[in-house]
Amino acid sequence: MEVVVSPTPEDAAGRAAEAVLAGLPRDGGRDPVLGLATGSSPLGLYQELGRAVAEGRVDFSRTHGFALDEYVGLPPGHPEGYREVLLREVCAVIGLPPERLSVPDGSGDDVPTLMAAARAYEDRIRELGGVDVQVLGIGANGHLGFNEPGSALASRTRVKRLSDRTRRDNARFFQGLEDVPTHCVTQGLGTILDARRLVLVATGDAKADAVAAALEGPLMASVPASVLQWHRDTVVCLDEAAAAALRNRQYYDDAAAGLTER
Ligand code: F6R
Repeated sequence: MEVVVSPTPEDAAGRAAEAVLAGLPRDGGRDPVLGLATGSSPLGLYQELGRAVAEGRVDFSRTHGFALDEYVGLPPGHPEGYREVLLREVCAVIGLPPERLSVPDGSGDDVPTLMAAARAYEDRIRELGGVDVQVLGIGANGHLGFNEPGSALASRTRVKRLSDRTRRDNARFFQGLEDVPTHCVTQGLGTILDARRLVLVATGDAKADAVAAALEGPLMASVPASVLQWHRDTVVCLDEAAAAALRNRQYYDDAAAGLTER
């Protein structure tokens, strides 16, 4: 795990964007595949990627994008449905073609229909060669995607109940708590672990405890983001506030400084 602490959220977004760019394949052999989180945490990162496009450093026109998750039961075109969010906040910003964006299908009326769509989603990721870089945020309760505490570490894309905490946290995007869906379809922790590189962005003091539990606590289902410890290429980009509860901070800073003291 590489843990990079930056002075400000803007700097953390810049570091995260560099980690994403470094993880994308450049050989032209197959189209790159980018895994996309929604929520507030990666917005600065997407803006930075947009800047890199404008500077001619990267071109996402041949990239496929896969969302981490989607709510169940929102009407098609609902502005807070994650397809719409990603069209606005990613496709329009980095030039990812909308027809190359895939989002789990949360429109099914029953669990078998939703589960069939979830399996098809996994198949589609595999067909395209797997995710090269997965962008992640972390919930204040330690969730990753919408894998709430208690999620199996090897889970695959499936229907999940949202926790009360997550529904309250996300009520800011809706008219009120009662409008927040109760269920979602989310990539599983096992699905997320299949990505070749994971880039997690967390900023603000509300995330400090979850970040410390995920990075320095035991690997366990009650802290789903602790599964990051199991992945061989994870980059965690934090601002000072989100890093405040880390015990091993000095080591991360020393390691990030590279080989200068050899
Ligand atoms: C979003 C997602 C969630 C968020 C997390 C943090 O697709 O899967 O895990 O990353 O809830 O949300 P923000 O960034 O809004 O604090």
